[in-house]
Amino acid sequence: MIVGIDLGTTTSLVAAIKDGVPTLVLNERGKTITPSVVGFSETGELLVGESAKNQAVAHPERTQSSIKRIMGSDKRVTMMGKEYTPQEISAMILNKLKNDAETYFGKPIDEAVITVPAYFTDAQRQATKDAGEIAGFKVERIINEPTAAALSYGFQHKEETSNLLVYDYGGGTFDVSVIQLVEGAFKVLATSGNNMLGGDDFDLIVSKFLFDKFKEAEGIDLDEIEDEQMKLSIHQRILEAAERAKIDLSTLLETNVNIPFLYSVENEPKHLDVNITRADFEKMIEHLVEATRQPVLDAMEASKIANEELDAVILVGGTTRIPIVKKFITDLLNKEPLSDIHPEECVAIGAAVQAGVKAGELDDLVVVDVAPYTLGIEVIGDRFSPIIYANTTIPCSQKRRYVTTQDYQQEATINVLQGNHKKASRNTDLGEFVLAGLSQKSKGETVVEVIFDYDVNGIVNVTAIDRETGARNNIVIKQSRERLSDAQKAAAKEHLSTVVGAEGEETLETIEDRTPAQIEAEFYINDATNFLMDRGNDIDAVLREQIEQTISILQDSIAQKDDAKIDSMSDKLLMLLSDADVQG
Ligand SMILES: Nc1ncnc2c1ncn2[C@@H]1O[C@H](COP(=O)(O)OP(=O)(O)OP(=O)(O)O)[C@@H](O)[C@H]1O
Ligand SMILES: [Mg+2]
Repeated sequence: MIVGIDLGTTTSLVAAIKDGVPTLVLNERGKTITPSVVGFSETGELLVGESAKNQAVAHPERTQSSIKRIMGSDKRVTMMGKEYTPQEISAMILNKLKNDAETYFGKPIDEAVITVPAYFTDAQRQATKDAGEIAGFKVERIINEPTAAALSYGFQHKEETSNLLVYDYGGGTFDVSVIQLVEGAFKVLATSGNNMLGGDDFDLIVSKFLFDKFKEAEGIDLDEIEDEQMKLSIHQRILEAAERAKIDLSTLLETNVNIPFLYSVENEPKHLDVNITRADFEKMIEHLVEATRQPVLDAMEASKIANEELDAVILVGGTTRIPIVKKFITDLLNKEPLSDIHPEECVAIGAAVQAGVKAGELDDLVVVDVAPYTLGIEVIGDRFSPIIYANTTIPCSQKRRYVTTQDYQQEATINVLQGNHKKASRNTDLGEFVLAGLSQKSKGETVVEVIFDYDVNGIVNVTAIDRETGARNNIVIKQSRERLSDAQKAAAKEHLSTVVGAEGEETLETIEDRTPAQIEAEFYINDATNFLMDRGNDIDAVLREQIEQTISILQDSIAQKDDAKIDSMSDKLLMLLSDADVQG
């Protein structure tokens, strides 16, 4: 038996296919949902789930929640004087889920499918996979949460052909995916999101409001308390009260937050007693709702599905229970979301369905997912050369050839980047490695082949080869340098420019001298030509003419290597295509 696990920022669930039906595991408290909280008791006993959550107020120093927010980073957390990686903490949660599943199904279980946000980076996926292995699982597959949600729907609607949009607003992450379901085959068309946006942010805003109210009423700034332990504990009490108030306001128009004995001054107890109306709350969090607009529009645009062609909107994640969030997405897509999908349970159910497919228990479903980001490498002049574009179907393998930029160049640094910016330094560094032992020739003559292999779990392996000498090196992208402080970032940038300046001989140039703008433009032309072939007859003749003309001007400007013109014509083509998308 393979289990499916939804490893969430705030809550986790585990499920499996039993007698052909996805079945959620009940934990020791008879619940399907286990808080993603880990802690140690006074005697050093490991606590996971509800019991850890319960001690968070009294012992914040030995309790850890929302670990998923730092997965894939180099950060550590400390409990009881010992440091842990985010993978180790996540492994404690996964291990508990493993034990719960073994008790529930009455047999040993050592294989799992684990879900991650669609917008998780490679490093975050890798860290999740590592956590699964530390917990004692063979991780059969990492799948995207919105894809899992769609699978839970598809399991019930196997015969259907439809376009789905999954809007997943959880505790720590926001994801949106557009998925096409064709009689049991799932094709993810596009995905977008934000890894650092979730219900936790709503709690922080409400807590800030409560802090301010307390200060107003008592003249005490709780941020200035000297006793660290007490400060942490007060923060935790307010944070929990804030989350409760937020949840109340999903059903009530007003709620009262009452925390007796929050603090005391010269033995005089100070209580917190504040009313919050839904209207107050909605005003405070408006920007967190608005922040989901662009990702939804981006995913819709990339999917090439028009609003009217959407058949169903699936809401996932606890945060979608907030009425204003539901209203926002309903208005934005002009479509009522499905009401019969359980927003907290459907991801685990979908993971169980995927596990069932993997185990050969369900053989009538197929899933095809996409890469969430554009990946490529740095080339000379701080330019970004894309190799795999966002929303490319995975697994996939893409290669591009480069040439050296110096005479008798011995080695080349392959700097792997993620992003959409033409300037290399404006994108995210994923890691770098050196290919040594190049065939030493005049500049422009040594050819280096760079290959990106994207596996089904969304994990990337980058290889560079000089076919002539047989020199080869590679990395599996693991290190995340994504969330550095500003000072670290500034230092890293300086390093980069000196390296390129002083040891420019290590850089590469794209073969045929094509700039990223030119490569990108060809990608757009390809898109536009496909569009005209597929749907050219559905749009009006004038627009069609404009598109054809722009393609031809763009082709000319590529031939003339006129980057400024390429840029402006690419933009124009994109605009025309999005107009055409609406019509076609
Ligand atoms: N009725 C409700 N109204 C508002 N918010 C809610 C409600 N119920 C749960 N939440 C919030 O939803 C979030 C948890 O949602 P969920 O369990 O889907 O997230 P998760 O799976 O842990 O996180 P992620 O998917 O981002 O990793 C928490 O922030 C919680 O406060
Ligand atoms: Mg979730």
